[in-house]
Amino acid sequence: MPNDAETVSLAASNGRQSEPCTFVIFGITGDLAARKLVPALWALHLEGRLHENTQIVGYARSERSNTELRDSLHGALQTYVGTVDQAAWDSFAPRLHYVRGGYGDTAGHTELLAALDGLGHPRRLFYTATPPETYEDIVNAMVASGLAASPEGGWTRLVIEKPFGHDTKSAQQLNNVISEAFAEDQIYRIDHYLAKETAQNIAVLRFANALFEPIWSNKYVDYVEISMMEPMGVEGRGAFYEAAGVVRDVFQNHLLQLIALVAMEPPSRWQANAVRDEKVKVFDALEAPSRDDVVFGQYDRHGDTPGYRDEDGVTDQSNQATYAAVRFKINNWRWSGVPFYVRSGKRMGAKTTEIVLNFKKPPHVPFALKDPLKADRLVLRVNPDEGIQFVFNAKQPGQGTNLGRVSLDFAYEGRFDRSPPDAYETLLLDAMLGDATLFMRADEIEAQWRIVEPLLNGSGPMADPHFYPAGTSGPDAAERLLQAAGHAWHDPTSTS
Ligand code: BG6
Repeated sequence: MPNDAETVSLAASNGRQSEPCTFVIFGITGDLAARKLVPALWALHLEGRLHENTQIVGYARSERSNTELRDSLHGALQTYVGTVDQAAWDSFAPRLHYVRGGYGDTAGHTELLAALDGLGHPRRLFYTATPPETYEDIVNAMVASGLAASPEGGWTRLVIEKPFGHDTKSAQQLNNVISEAFAEDQIYRIDHYLAKETAQNIAVLRFANALFEPIWSNKYVDYVEISMMEPMGVEGRGAFYEAAGVVRDVFQNHLLQLIALVAMEPPSRWQANAVRDEKVKVFDALEAPSRDDVVFGQYDRHGDTPGYRDEDGVTDQSNQATYAAVRFKINNWRWSGVPFYVRSGKRMGAKTTEIVLNFKKPPHVPFALKDPLKADRLVLRVNPDEGIQFVFNAKQPGQGTNLGRVSLDFAYEGRFDRSPPDAYETLLLDAMLGDATLFMRADEIEAQWRIVEPLLNGSGPMADPHFYPAGTSGPDAAERLLQAAGHAWHDPTSTS
């Protein structure tokens, strides 16, 4: 644990410390606050990145005192972070305050405004860690109570959690409500995938090196795969998942964002609007998938592991997809003819999030080979074992030309002297600093919904899912999606 002098010098060393502000969390008593937001603020506090005058105000419906709030958040830190250093806690706890009120209740919001005025900061950041159906009401009550107005000499910002709408129409409606209350540069729409170190490193790999960008196109790339496989099921979120399914849960946001980071043109500078302009161009060029481009799956009971239909909050006839494999096409000069195969599933055999660029074979091979030549492959491991692997052919030692597969590997672990911060730490600090590069703009969100709209329940080619046993690699039909083109999903455990 760094001491005070060390933490200050750490923050000063790369200049990233919040301005003094008030960080308001709507839904402070909920799961997101306990698991992600408060641990992220705590980590920023420990690193000396929270200005000493930054205050945290929690708002929720239940009755509790400041002391009760502090005690419950202390417990949450113990659960989700581990041992809580007493001296550090003693300097963190006084930052925490509680105001009780309903979401979208003007009287409660007016009381919140009075509390914020009492704290005296003209800089205010509001975070909706509440159920999505409350977002519009919260914004409307912020306007009615005066909370939405920026205090003189300061600013007001709004961070909106995912999910942002449940289809194109509802996202547009939410954008309309929010944009009547706030300017676009006051709005921070979260997708935590963008703040993962490994996702940010896609851009660094491409745009801070000369080697990769020239081959990053349909001239050299045969096909791209993005896989996000999770061993867990719906983890008590059955009712949420029944309405969301895999498409709304991870395709509309995280996976489309990864596609954009892989496919975008180099922006002129790494700055919010320049980056988002390039991502929106990718979304404009992304063709909405047709029925032939999609395989849906649902996990079935396997041994002691329950099936999706056995989960609490799920009906026993549910056809909701817990798995999808989709072939996307990007209709632009760089990517025309290169399929982007994207898959994600719950209750998979192992956790893997990775991006694989499969390169074309050389146009002519002068060697007499016994076995068919394998193509080069670049694997960007987002999680776990964060890193990058380039797999290629080399001559095996000995007489004659026999090829073997070899790889160049970079692993984050052990390479740098600190582990990557949690994505929420980066996002909360960025929002306090006014940097929206890792947040989504209104047009980006709406474009993402347009792309997945045909995959949503009841509004397109949503077929009955293929059932796959829990704990496996998904339905066989997902293999066939690639086979027709002579492609195959990468096996993350393979080294060849
Ligand atoms: C969330 C989804 O947005 O992302 C979850 O709602 C999913 O279903 C999670 O498990 C994955 O995030 P991570 O950071 O654990 O890969």
